[in-house]
Amino acid sequence: MTTTTIETTTDQKTQFLQETLTGLQSEPKFMLSKYFYDATGDRIFQQIMDMEEYYLTNAEMEILQYQADQLSQAIAADGSSFDLIELGAGDATKSIHLLNSLMSSNLEFSYLPIDISAHVIDDLEENLPKKLPGLNMTGLNGDYFDMLKRAAELSNRRKVVLFMGANIGNMNIADAEKFCISLKEILSPNDFLIIGFDLKKNPQKILAAYNDQAGITKSFNLNLLNRINKELDGNFNLEYFDHYASYDPASGACKSYLISLKNQIVNIGNQAVHFAENEHVYMEISQKYSLADIDQLAEKTGFKPLQRFFDQNQYFVDAIWKVD
Ligand SMILES: C[S@@+](CC[C@H](N)C(=O)[O-])C[C@H]1O[C@@H](n2cnc3c(N)ncnc32)[C@H](O)[C@@H]1O
Repeated sequence: MTTTTIETTTDQKTQFLQETLTGLQSEPKFMLSKYFYDATGDRIFQQIMDMEEYYLTNAEMEILQYQADQLSQAIAADGSSFDLIELGAGDATKSIHLLNSLMSSNLEFSYLPIDISAHVIDDLEENLPKKLPGLNMTGLNGDYFDMLKRAAELSNRRKVVLFMGANIGNMNIADAEKFCISLKEILSPNDFLIIGFDLKKNPQKILAAYNDQAGITKSFNLNLLNRINKELDGNFNLEYFDHYASYDPASGACKSYLISLKNQIVNIGNQAVHFAENEHVYMEISQKYSLADIDQLAEKTGFKPLQRFFDQNQYFVDAIWKVD
């Protein structure tokens, strides 16, 4: 077993402060969803994944549980060794099925999980080798592209990039295009991307997943205010903000917001931010796709769609693309 953690060299706290203030000084205000994931955010996200309403996890889990061997055959390609790089690995409970299948087919590969949450990478480092003895793994803690460049410098083997959990949906379509183009520029011809999309479906089903009765999604969003209080010396009062989710079936955009319940001033470090009563702060998009949208995204950004894997309800798809 080889396990190495490489911590990012960027000053994450300064960046967190700058990006938070930029968002809250903009009109309309916004926050960046990548900051949801501190240790508490990771824990609340686990609860979201366990919610009855949050169909996404079970749908993609079903694909990985029952079709890991077909996925691993597809990425084995000519049988040459490769690096399996997972963007936003989280707790890897889904990808572990693919790792298992790859290990039992005796393919030579290294697993490089990338995650912005140091807690996630520490956890993977501690627990994954126990579950998969013999796994060759290098954890990379930092932002997707900083760490992808780091991963590309570590070896010149072919790359298979895993981007699951509908993380691509946390970008609007224009940003998703830019993201795929940047990804393609780092990769080489014939490298693979396995990318998960949540499909357009009954709007009520989608909305319920982001607006659960128990208020877990609300606490997930509010936790970012807590994180700012703790890490950036903020004084948000969480009782003065509410969560609001909306889904537009025409565009496929499911958006979540925090709503200021009163006219208030919040301090973050030495900066004061004014919130008007009912002012919204845009928190996150969860973009839904049709199969045609997905193929179009691949073609526009320099990838060739190869294969698709669905759950039995056809709620979700993991698509395999090759760099064209
Ligand atoms: C929605 S979870 C999905 C986890 C896992 N892929 C799954 O499907 O269960 C998103 C993960 O991506 C990470 N993440 C979000 N934005 C990131 C970024 N810009 N760079 C690196 N990791 C990021 C988060 O810390 C979190 O662990």
